[in-house]
Parts: sequence; C-alpha cells; structure tokens
Amino acid sequence: MQRNQIFSLVAVSAFGLEGPIAAELKRLGMHDVKAENGLVRFHGTILDAYRCNLSLRFSDRVYLLLQEKTCLSFEDLFQLILAVPWEEYTSGMEAFHISAQCARSKLMSPRDCQSITKKALLERLKRFSGRSVFPETGPEFPVHINIHSDRVRVLLDTSGTSLSRRGYRTWNGEAPLRETLAAALVEFSPWRPGMPLYDPCCGTGTILIEAALRQGHIAPGLRRNFSMERFAFFPFKEAAILKSDTEKECVPERISEINGSDIDTGAIDLACRHLSQAGLADKINFRCLPLQELHLEAERGVFLCNPPYGERLGDNLSCRKLYHDLHLLQCRHPTWSLCAISSDPGFEKAYGRRADRKRRLYNGRLECQFYTYFPLKK
Ligand SMILES: C[S@@+](CC[C@H](N)C(=O)[O-])C[C@H]1O[C@@H](n2cnc3c(N)ncnc32)[C@H](O)[C@@H]1O
Repeated sequence: MQRNQIFSLVAVSAFGLEGPIAAELKRLGMHDVKAENGLVRFHGTILDAYRCNLSLRFSDRVYLLLQEKTCLSFEDLFQLILAVPWEEYTSGMEAFHISAQCARSKLMSPRDCQSITKKALLERLKRFSGRSVFPETGPEFPVHINIHSDRVRVLLDTSGTSLSRRGYRTWNGEAPLRETLAAALVEFSPWRPGMPLYDPCCGTGTILIEAALRQGHIAPGLRRNFSMERFAFFPFKEAAILKSDTEKECVPERISEINGSDIDTGAIDLACRHLSQAGLADKINFRCLPLQELHLEAERGVFLCNPPYGERLGDNLSCRKLYHDLHLLQCRHPTWSLCAISSDPGFEKAYGRRADRKRRLYNGRLECQFYTYFPLKK
C-alpha cells in the first residue's frame, strides 16, 4: 500500500454536530468534506486519519470506508467483502473483530452479517496468501459493517474507544456530559477564547476542561491511543512526527478566565482530579458554591452550564426552581450571556424568559435544547 494513498473517510457525528465537524475537517485541510445525517465524509491519507483522531473535538470516531454498495442478499454481501483488498491492510496475524448494525434493510441479522463478513475476509486472505490457518493472535483489527436501507458500508475503525474518551475522565460522577457534546456546547455558545467563561453547576468539570483545551490549542487526542496505531500499515515514523508537531502547537499558558463552581463537594474533587489528569492542574479554579450565592466581578463573560434536567437528577420542581435561579444569576450579571442545555420542555417558562437562540441537540438518547440568552444590558 502506498503511503500517500487517498482513502474515503467517515467521521461519525451525534445528531446536530455534523456542521461543526465538517468545519473542523476543513480547518484540518481535509478534502471533499461533505456532511450527511449522522456522519461527515471526506478524503485523505492514512496519516490524515491519524491527524483527525488526534484533533477532532466533536466527532466520536473516524473510519476508513473500504467499500460501499447496495446488497440485497447474503451472497451480495459475501461478494462485496471478497472484493476488498484485505491483504493490503492486514499481516494476516490480527484478531479480526467484526461488528454489524442493520436498519431498514433486507439483511437484518447483525449476527449473520458478522459471520458472512468474517468468512469472506478469511477466504480472500487464503486466496492471496496461500495460507489456510489464521491464528488471530495479533492486535485487534476492528471491521464494522453498517447496513442502512440496503446500502452496505464496509468500515475499518481507526479510533477504537470512542473519541469522546479523551482519557482525563476516569470516574464519571452523576449525569456527566460526553466530552464531544461539552466541546460542542462551548463552540455553540457566544464564548470565544480570551473572554471570561463560568460554569455555575460545573459537576466534574467537563465543559470547562473542553473550553480550556480549546483555548490552549491542545488537541483532545494527545493523551490517548487509537486502534489504527496497531495496524500493520500504520505509518509509525510520520505519525510520531505529526504527534510531536501537534504537541508543539499547545499553548497552555494562554488558558485564563475559565472558572466554575458546584454545590456538591464530591463533584468538585472529581473536577480537580480530571483537570490534573488533563495536564491542566491549576488552569481552572473550581470551588464549592451554590449558584444562588454566586457574584462575579468581571464586567462581561459567558455562563455556560448543564444543569440537572429533573429526569436523572433531583425532581422536576427543584430543577425548575434552579432554572429560575439561573435567570436571577443573569439578572445579577446583566452584561453576561447565559447558555444552558436541558431536556425539560418547561425550561424557558421556569427561567422566566424566551431564549434568544435555541438549538436541538441530543445528550445520549435525551432530546434537549441548548438555550442562549444574550446580555440583558450592553
Ligand atoms: C448534570 S450535572 C452537571 C454535570 C457536568 N456538566 C459534568 O460533566 O460533570 C448538574 C450539576 O448541577 C449541580 N447543582 C445542582 N444544584 C446546584 C446549585 N444550586 N448550585 C450549584 N450547582 C448545583 C449538581 O451538583 C450537578 O453536579
């Protein structure tokens, strides 16, 4: 396989994050970037795939798209898999791990699709290597078969563990946000690096840590590994140079004016632990404080938070009281914007004002709105 071979690549997206992922991919210099429902397609080399794993803030996973075709029978699927030049991607020693997902298609049994894929993959390797036994004792080779409306995509997972796992969060606390969604909230808010940012119910600190990574120009994947690093065709030397160049771009000294508080001391302890695991100890000031008692000096800034929704933490009434308290917080800081995500349809009524901007997002399976209130006073 040529080092500069161009692949079809796919970055997986949660609902509503396709646009920001496409913009990130363009910033990273990827080609033919095209957003679709739940994914963004683009073209690039294997080193580009590594760059994306290191740097994408909002995507969950990056795949190489090896084949794509309509299949109406198991025989179609077998022939499609047989046509993939697997001998170029594997040494034949890997443990072939096949997963499958089927929706609205003739082929609706993930288990059968998995076993047909494995059979066809091994058949291809047998024909090309002359060997008949594959011990599968090497590193994992994760192939994913996605079938939707009879369209089959044969994907090689370059990420491994979801990219939302940056590696700094080792224990989750109650109802934490996925790191990718937290990064997206930072992006959708009016905050831009340099302005004060404050999370008044910061929990384990995810939103603020994601903002700090962004302000410090720190690629989110620098502290973890990816499945592609164990592939036989992974360009080790070039990737090491790319990683070291990406590390050189970090400017943690730029991180300032990002702070937060929470009523729960246990959550604050975890936030501090996560911060130091992110390599950012002391870059954010976390303190234990009910938001009802919060008074800040800074003239302008952005409050950004993920308050309880009443579904997972606390009850509905106390959450709605808290939403009103968020409004009072903004009234005490009328030159600040306030942004909050909630699945509670009564949020605006409880807050006491219609949001200036709303965006539909999903926190896991929960449909939410992300509310933005601009400053009450210029
Ligand atoms: C959904 S959690 C936030 C999770 C956080 N985004 C994270 O990633 O860990 C909501 C947080 O609001 C906090 N909270 C509830 N009432 C509060 C209050 N009156 N003042 C400050 N924080 C409060 C809870 O302790 C909890 O940590």
